[in-house]
Order: sequence, then structure tokens, then C-alpha cells
Amino acid sequence: MEKIQIAEQNQKKWDSRAKTYDAKRFDYFRFMQKRLISLLDLREGTHLLDLGCGTGWAVRYAAAKANQQGEFDGVDISAKMIEIARANSTGCRNVHFFQTGAERLPFNNNYFDCVICSNSFHHYFSPAKVLKEVKRVLKPNGKIYILDLTCDRRLPKMLNRRCQRREPAHVSFYSTDEYRSLFSSEGLNYVGGKIIAGRLIGFPMKVHIGLKNGK
Ligand SMILES: C[S@@+](CC[C@H](N)C(=O)[O-])C[C@H]1O[C@@H](n2cnc3c(N)ncnc32)[C@H](O)[C@@H]1O
Repeated sequence: MEKIQIAEQNQKKWDSRAKTYDAKRFDYFRFMQKRLISLLDLREGTHLLDLGCGTGWAVRYAAAKANQQGEFDGVDISAKMIEIARANSTGCRNVHFFQTGAERLPFNNNYFDCVICSNSFHHYFSPAKVLKEVKRVLKPNGKIYILDLTCDRRLPKMLNRRCQRREPAHVSFYSTDEYRSLFSSEGLNYVGGKIIAGRLIGFPMKVHIGLKNGK
């Protein structure tokens, strides 16, 4: 499938799910986002970006953890998700949402201390392009945290192939080695990985952490 078609499929799919997303996915997705955010060094003044932010819950949660001091932004390809994220965030002064694909980020160079991405990276038709953009917008010593199902074993690999056959908006889940090499091709150092859920059932949800070296 062409890249442009994958982007359109994602827009359509997530626009149609936006209204009911929080009601349907709340517990599991929030549990994972909380665990992801617990890995961050969030302080007052932090600049954080969430890629594929959906309804923006993690952005608001991170802003609250940093006492609303700093800048907390989210991007999503779905206009409806962004509409809801904005509606849910009235009164949050330091929280902003932008409708755009993660392949093209409307931010200055060296702006964010950290970039997070939860349960969204497998939809990106050009992961290399996304990581190039992430490297550009991260400050030196800034970090990217990608949470997604990780395919180091047979079961999740089988699921990945099945999703690729059946689900037009799915691009790929990756293995730890693939993350390592994707990061390094774009000049990010793979500095760690942590399974935060799903290990026992054989479908590990793992956070992959990349560092932009300081200069
Ligand atoms: C499963 S939802 C995850 C939402 C949120 N991160 C969470 O954990 O609840 C996947 C999100 O990725 C977004 N998405 C898919 N492809 C995208 C792309 N190329 N750029 C930005 N967002 C994208 C979808 O619109 C959707 O909101």
C-alpha cells in the first residue's frame, strides 16, 4: 500500500473511533501511559511532545505531574482526536494539540526535553522519517520513549503478520533489535528498553528509549 493511502486509512480509522475512544480503551491504555510517564524525568519547565496523542490524556497527565510548568504538546493525524483533545483541555494553559502526521512536526529544532509515543508507532508508514523529525525537535540529551507491542518472539511476530494482512492502518510492530537499528540509523542512541505490561501472556508492551547525544 502507498504511504499516502496508509495515512488516509489511519485518519479515517481514528476519526471514526475518536468519540468512543476514551470510554472503550480507558483502563488498559491509561495504565500503560501512566507506566510510561513514570519513566520520565518530569520537572517544572519540561517541554514534552506526545506523538499520536489521541485524545490527549497523557499530555494533560504529564503537565499535571510537572505542576503545569513547561510546555506539553501533542500531535495526531486524526482531526477528530485533536478536536476532542482540545475540548478536554480547556483551561490547561500549557497544553497544545496539533493535527499533523508524526512524519512532519510543526516545531523548532532543539525544542523538547522528551518525546513520548504510546501505542502509535506501528501505524507510521515511515518510521525513519519520524525518528529524523524526533531527533530534530529534541534538545541535545533529550530522549524519545516509544511504547508498543514488541516482536522479539514468535507469538507477537505472528500477530504482526496477521495485522499486516488484515488491517490497512497497521504498518509493523518491531523487535528490540529493529528499534536499536532504526534509532541508530537516525543518529539516536538506544539507551534502554523496559517491558511494562503483557510479558506473562507473551505479548510484551515495551518502552524503547533513545537519546539524542548532547553537543
Ligand atoms: C491506539 S491510538 C493511541 C492513542 C494514545 N497514544 C494512547 O495511548 O491512548 C493510535 C493513535 O495514533 C494516531 N496516528 C496514526 N498514524 C499516525 C501518524 N502517522 N502520525 C500521527 N498520529 C498517528 C491515530 O490517529 C491514533 O490516535
